This record gives sequence, structure tokens and C-alpha cells, in this order.
Amino acid sequence: MPKKKGRLEFVKMKKEGEQVAWVTAYDFPTASFVEQAGMDMILVGDSLGMVVLGYQGTIPVTMEDCISHCQAVRRGAPNTFCVGDMPFMSYQISDPDAVFNAGRFLKEADMDAVKLEGGKRVLSRIKAIVDAGILVIGHIGLTPQSSGPLGGFKAQGRDPESARFLIEDALAIQEAGAYSLLLEAVPPELTQFIAKKLDIPVYSIGAGGPCDGQLLICGDMLGLFEAFTPKFVKKYANVAEIETKAFKEYVNDVKTGQFPTDDHCYHILKDRQEEYMEMLKEYE
Ligand code: KIV
Repeated sequence: MPKKKGRLEFVKMKKEGEQVAWVTAYDFPTASFVEQAGMDMILVGDSLGMVVLGYQGTIPVTMEDCISHCQAVRRGAPNTFCVGDMPFMSYQISDPDAVFNAGRFLKEADMDAVKLEGGKRVLSRIKAIVDAGILVIGHIGLTPQSSGPLGGFKAQGRDPESARFLIEDALAIQEAGAYSLLLEAVPPELTQFIAKKLDIPVYSIGAGGPCDGQLLICGDMLGLFEAFTPKFVKKYANVAEIETKAFKEYVNDVKTGQFPTDDHCYHILKDRQEEYMEMLKEYE
């Protein structure tokens, strides 16, 4: 049984230069495979809206969706550090609202930490949640909940002005008490600079290698999410192809009578066969 890592292990891993591997998961079987693979951390991302619920983006995802998927993931990965992702409008309204919703991830779904998107504009939320005794991971760069104002799913921090904003955001997030920071879709030079500058671990999704660990969306790396594949994704499998092939074979087997065979059937108790047939005859 692997030992569940916590904040202190992640700080130690940063100091010792050991990379953290993490991935998103949204359901029981995936979470259990992820844990068996020895992953350091799981994010139950609001990307579940796109990857498993079929929405165009993350905006429609509700607290109830997140809690239910976090619960399934926790059942599948009881010994892995799990982060619940705060969905749109679960923290935007007020600090008390943010604390209440962050608390639900711990109380109802046994998550170890929460993640929320945004820099300076959400600082009071981060502070309030941290003050309530909850671990927070910040998330800046391409923040999917703000893809509208950001002009779509686009890389961020590619010019000096926007990079300066991100550096200021990163420093402020650390100051507010976040235990780590996720950078999404920014240039590796900026990632490296921020990872060196901050004491807290800095992780990348599509933000290059030079930092403290890597996150990928399971639907992207497994080849399950077909709508689009970002440039930064490495595909480790093509599960969509495997599933479609299996479903096609099943359709064919059913239509041609190749499934089920005798091997797939439950049989009448051996010592009751005659009696059984007599009983059926009564209804002929
Ligand atoms: O919801 C999610 O999976 C995320 C990642 C894009 C970082 O927030």
C-alpha cells in the first residue's frame, strides 16, 4: 500500500529536485489505476465538464458535479493526495462563500486540498480559505474558467508585459499562503523563473519542464477526449480507438449471434434439470 504524500513531502521533493507527477481523474476506475501507477497527486479538475460530461467548457460545472466526482476518485485512490477544483461561481462571489465551498471538498469528499483559478483578483479568497485551515493551490496562466476574457484557450505570458503580471500574481499567491502554484500554458523560461523565485512548489501544465512537476489531463494523455488536443499533450494511449473497436465487435457479435455463447450463460442446477423442464412444460 503506497503511503499518501502530503504538503511537507512536496516541499521536500522541490528541495531535492524530485519531480511530482500528477494527472486529473474523475471516476473510481481511473483513480484506482492512477494510484496503482504510483502517481504523486490527483486533480479532480472541473475539466470533468468537458472530458466526461460533454460540455463545451468548464463554466456549467456545479459544486454538486465536483463533489460527486471527488467522492468517486477518493474511493478509487484512498492513498493519494487529491485536489478538488473549485468550479466557476463557487468562489467568485465572496470570501465566506469561497470558504464554505472549499470546506465542502474536505468534509464531503475527503479531498486534501483545493485549487482555484486567478491571481491578485482572488487573493482575499485564497487567504480566507487558507485561514480556515485548508490547503490551496493557485492556478494562473491559461485559466479555462476565464477563457472568454483571455480570448480563448490561448497560451499566456508570451510578452514581457503579460509575463510581468504573472510574476506579480505568483508572488502574491505565495504571500497569500497557497501551498503550491500551477502554471498553465506559459513559456518555459517564465516557468523556470517563477519556480526558482518561489519557495512553494510550482507545477506545469503545458508550461514546460523546468519546475517542480507536471500535470496532464487524463482524457488527453489517454486519447479519450477527441474534441481537440493541446500542443503540450503527450498521448500515451489511444483509448478512444480501443473502446470504439471493442464496441463495434460487440455490435457485430450480437447481430451475428456470436455473443453470448454457452460460456457466458448460467445453467440450471445439475440435479434439478428434469424437474425444471417439467415446470416449464406446465406453461406451454
Ligand atoms: O480542470 C482542470 O483539469 C484544470 C487543469 C486544466 C489545470 O484546471
